[in-house]
Amino acid sequence: MGKNKIARFKENETFELLHQPAFMDLYKGDFSLKGRWHKESFGNENPIVLELGCGRGEYTVELAKRFPGKNFIGIDVKGARLWRGAKTATVEKLKNVSFIRTRVDVVTSIFAEGEVSELWITFPDPQPARARKRLCAPLFLNRYSKLLTKNGTVHLKTDSQMLHEYAKAVLAKNNLTYVFASNDVHAGGASKGSVLEIQTAYEKIFVDRGFPITYLQFHLPQRTALVEPEGFTFDMHVPKARR
Ligand SMILES: C[S@@+](CC[C@H](N)C(=O)[O-])C[C@H]1O[C@@H](n2cnc3c(N)ncnc32)[C@H](O)[C@@H]1O
Repeated sequence: MGKNKIARFKENETFELLHQPAFMDLYKGDFSLKGRWHKESFGNENPIVLELGCGRGEYTVELAKRFPGKNFIGIDVKGARLWRGAKTATVEKLKNVSFIRTRVDVVTSIFAEGEVSELWITFPDPQPARARKRLCAPLFLNRYSKLLTKNGTVHLKTDSQMLHEYAKAVLAKNNLTYVFASNDVHAGGASKGSVLEIQTAYEKIFVDRGFPITYLQFHLPQRTALVEPEGFTFDMHVPKARR
């Protein structure tokens, strides 16, 4: 392991806003803050917004600055990436930010029913060969539906046109509609002034290469049991760069 990574892991242990529970503890039981995030972590009743697979937590940190009346929690399994978001939020003394180092798979051990208002899934791995691993697959959406408030909002931002189409197919298969969909959020400066102008580390790479970025927003019913769309073929279609 590189020196940089070791130093970041060490510093991670000093960040009060970063939680690093053992995976097996969450697999077998509940996290100590489950059902208590509002009172014990944030000291308020403001809505809680999650960023799943947050990497360096750009959305978590930037949204927290823009919306001081909401609480933001980024989740990722990679400690060295989380370090960036945790460091920025600590240095900038953001009181409405937390990070959790764990797998999204155990999210129902971390949050109680109705504890979360919104979710951002930012540039998830498209997992072309393994539908069950996609963070927007029915398996995951069903988990999220257990912790979201009534008609909680899901935001999916991705460079993968196929993942975008897959998510729309999941909604259609389960008779759900979307609030908003775009195949190219930054086209002609369309994202300027909206939260879609925030760019993650992965997003910047694709934007710099001229690839379009997609966005899908939808509401998820509570305690739902969504199923996979039949016959959806996830090919390795690579979109053309705009320039
Ligand atoms: C392509 S990166 C995107 C990171 C960040 N959202 C961005 O846009 O820069 C995907 C991230 O999802 C995380 N990830 C993938 N599957 C995960 C899971 N099941 N639980 C937690 N994190 C996961 C990876 O560790 C990685 O940081």
